[in-house]
Amino acid sequence: MTNSREELSWDEWDELQSPRPDENDFDQVVDAALSRRGFLGSVLAFGSGAAVMGAGALMPNVVEAATSSRFAFTPIDVATDATVHVPEGYSWNILTRWGDPLFSDAPEFDHSTGGDPKSDRIFGENTDGMELFTVGEHQLVAVNHEYLNPKLNLPQNEGGMPSSVADVLKMQNLQGVTVMEVTEGDSGWNVVVDSPFNRRIHHNTPMRIAGPAAGHDLLKTEADPYGVEVLGTMNNCGGGKTPWGTYLTCEENFNGYFGATNKAIELPNGFDRYGIGSDSRYEYEKFDPRYDLEKNPNEPNRFGYIVEIDPSDVTSKPVKRTALGRFKHENAEVVIASDGRVVVYLGDDERGEYLYKYVSEAAYQPGGDTEHLLNEGTLFVARFDADGTGQWIALTPDSTGMDMAEIYIHTRMAASAVGATTMDRPEWVAANPISVEAYCALTNNKNRGKKPNAGGDDTSTNAVNPREANHYGQIVRWKPADENHAATAFTWDLYVMAGNPTAHSDAYAGSSNINEGNLFNSPDGMVFDSSGLLWIQTDGNYKNEGDFAGMGNNQMLVGDPETGEIVRFMTVPYGAEVTGLCWSADRRSMFVGIQHPKAPFPDGEGKLARSSVVVVKRDDNAVIG
Ligand code: FEO
Ligand code: CA
Ligand code: CA
Repeated sequence: MTNSREELSWDEWDELQSPRPDENDFDQVVDAALSRRGFLGSVLAFGSGAAVMGAGALMPNVVEAATSSRFAFTPIDVATDATVHVPEGYSWNILTRWGDPLFSDAPEFDHSTGGDPKSDRIFGENTDGMELFTVGEHQLVAVNHEYLNPKLNLPQNEGGMPSSVADVLKMQNLQGVTVMEVTEGDSGWNVVVDSPFNRRIHHNTPMRIAGPAAGHDLLKTEADPYGVEVLGTMNNCGGGKTPWGTYLTCEENFNGYFGATNKAIELPNGFDRYGIGSDSRYEYEKFDPRYDLEKNPNEPNRFGYIVEIDPSDVTSKPVKRTALGRFKHENAEVVIASDGRVVVYLGDDERGEYLYKYVSEAAYQPGGDTEHLLNEGTLFVARFDADGTGQWIALTPDSTGMDMAEIYIHTRMAASAVGATTMDRPEWVAANPISVEAYCALTNNKNRGKKPNAGGDDTSTNAVNPREANHYGQIVRWKPADENHAATAFTWDLYVMAGNPTAHSDAYAGSSNINEGNLFNSPDGMVFDSSGLLWIQTDGNYKNEGDFAGMGNNQMLVGDPETGEIVRFMTVPYGAEVTGLCWSADRRSMFVGIQHPKAPFPDGEGKLARSSVVVVKRDDNAVIG
């Protein structure tokens, strides 16, 4: 290992823990290359309005270098500096930072210690998915805290690793979810310190387990002999919002929290598919036996779910919804299908894993009971066919050969069993509010065409993931049959393939809606605004050289689904990714998450870098989305 653990991204750490199987057969690589040649010719014609992949009805007639009147700003240039940039006529301010008090009994942030070791009364670390809820006169933001930056969070410890139970508690308290009331006054937006709605949910918050896997033997532990109660949620990545006013938080890289103090133990079947091994990322297991696989081998089976939280009630108990499957959940995009059923689109962010959707059995009745809606339904996985059509394949005992509970605990194996399409790391899914279609950011996949996934599934290039060793990413979109999100058939195309036309003249140049003015890589967060524009946030290589020259720091762009045009709206400090986006109730303010800056943001040189939520407004206070 050349990098120390604390300097690795989650992704890099995961790869070191769970090296994938060796390369595919030479034959497979050659076959993939041949089919790719045919496909890419079509994709590169995207901007000319040519019919692509048999999905001609979906393809916009793109006028090269179209100027859309739908963008109310002049796009900005790339940046490589330590601050935030937005277009002329817009401004930004800090709403809150890691360590800022949610309650007045929490101390102000101390840069020498990284904050109070016991406190869970502060805004957590590594802000991520975010949704705004209006409760009476109150505006509440529910926001995830994905993981840690150990060297910053425990600055006095060697390598940022815990050396005591108190250190572990601090780490656990910095993650999870914050619910906070926000308000706009003469001095701009602020968190309402001591609001009765303010709440922290973290690794030790009691939760209920519901749905088809609840009570299964694999979920039982000594502390919970019935398999229905669990402490905490972890690695909360993207989020979601239900029409009945609850927040969905998504457990992503839960595997890295568990380890074994006894390295000689044999790990249960299925752990390798999820990257659970005897080495953990934060060494909790040395101080908290719940995370020690020798003592609690079932504990990891209790993570990797979608958790439903009622932000309007601080006493409400969060619920893990096992019906939405167990994998590395990115976000949870909820739509009501034309037949009234609840559809939740779900990405599993790992190289060569899958894209899912859940469809409730019953239709949503406004004001009615909602408990069953995310418990009783069917989980599907996507198969994208090369002719531009696709199918959602139901994961059932018949289709998978697994029993119902196993499908929801070992969901990745269930998806492998039905021949779904391996994807280039499905990140956020966003559904267009003014057109029946949805988009998924496939952020990148250096293993595409190189190595199978951890289940041994072939990851040769395919129509929707057409580039080997894909380090730029693409965004796929689909239209469900009959304009019904609950339908099992769909048509699809690629909205954009990121790339660099200044560095490449082949498929790695990207699709023709990529130009020197909008270069980016690794699309990740995606949210539609109310007008049907797609906001795209990146989490990619920010070195601004070689293949990534001209891309600068991570950024937020806006795409017009109708013209294909994509323009740059925001850049963030170097080292940071942009993740999480929601609007104030009047849509005149936009809340944007800035995660893990390496730049000394926002407090300046000599201070710890702090993940932050910023507010962006138009100077004329007009609506911005
Ligand atoms: Fe937490 Fe896949 O990003
Ligand atoms: Ca992400
Ligand atoms: Ca990412």
